[in-house]
Amino acid sequence: MKITVFDDHQALSFQVAQMMVAQIKNKPDSVICLASGETPFLAYHLLPTLLLDEGVDHQQFTLIGLDEWVNIPSQNTGSCSYFLHTTLIGPLKLSLSQFKLFDGMAPDLQTECDSMDEFISKRGGIDLMVVGIGMNGHIGFNEPGVSTELYAHVIDLDDTTQTVGQKYFADKTTLGQGITLGLKHLQEANAAILMASGDRKAHIMKATLEGPIDPLIPSTIIRNHPNGLVMLDQKAASLLTPNE
Ligand code: GLP
Repeated sequence: MKITVFDDHQALSFQVAQMMVAQIKNKPDSVICLASGETPFLAYHLLPTLLLDEGVDHQQFTLIGLDEWVNIPSQNTGSCSYFLHTTLIGPLKLSLSQFKLFDGMAPDLQTECDSMDEFISKRGGIDLMVVGIGMNGHIGFNEPGVSTELYAHVIDLDDTTQTVGQKYFADKTTLGQGITLGLKHLQEANAAILMASGDRKAHIMKATLEGPIDPLIPSTIIRNHPNGLVMLDQKAASLLTPNE
């Protein structure tokens, strides 16, 4: 695992967007799994222009949505699906066969998980994952204490996630469960980028990078990834012990 610290959120976002461009350029049929949230928003916003500037064909890659709130319809502006549609799927004009997102309203969530796992394995696995980090160290909705051996699954959201998650919704919303790719997907991905930005992520980033590797802080598993990249802005890195 490698750690890189950028001056600010903009520099971090630009670099992540460029790495996504490089991934698609080097392997046009890449399978790329993307988180939602405030952290990657700017990187995704920059991506269509960068792809165009570099003349990169983006009609062959596959976008996988990392996670979704259970019982929240995709038309809800707080859903992960809505976020990925408005930031990337719409602007990049991706065809229906080019993306797969969890449906949090699916009548049978286990079937939804199985279908996602099968979709990924049929395409030969994930080439690149871009994930954020929750205030409790979750990745996707892999909440504290989750097994590192799981693929897609449904999980009860912990109190922190239910509270912090309100920021995405226009009105107070009941957030009980999430549906998510598992930490096994992260470990098996060819490459994984964990992005963190802002002061509010400084404590969890210190625990992620300097504490013990502990299932109670799921993000610590990135340290075992041979091709793991932790990309932070200075604010998120502000509590890290400086290199000697
Ligand atoms: C959310 C999502 C994650 C996201 C994380 C950080 O709840 N489930 O996929 O990466 O928490 O979100 P943000 O970037 O808004 O801080």
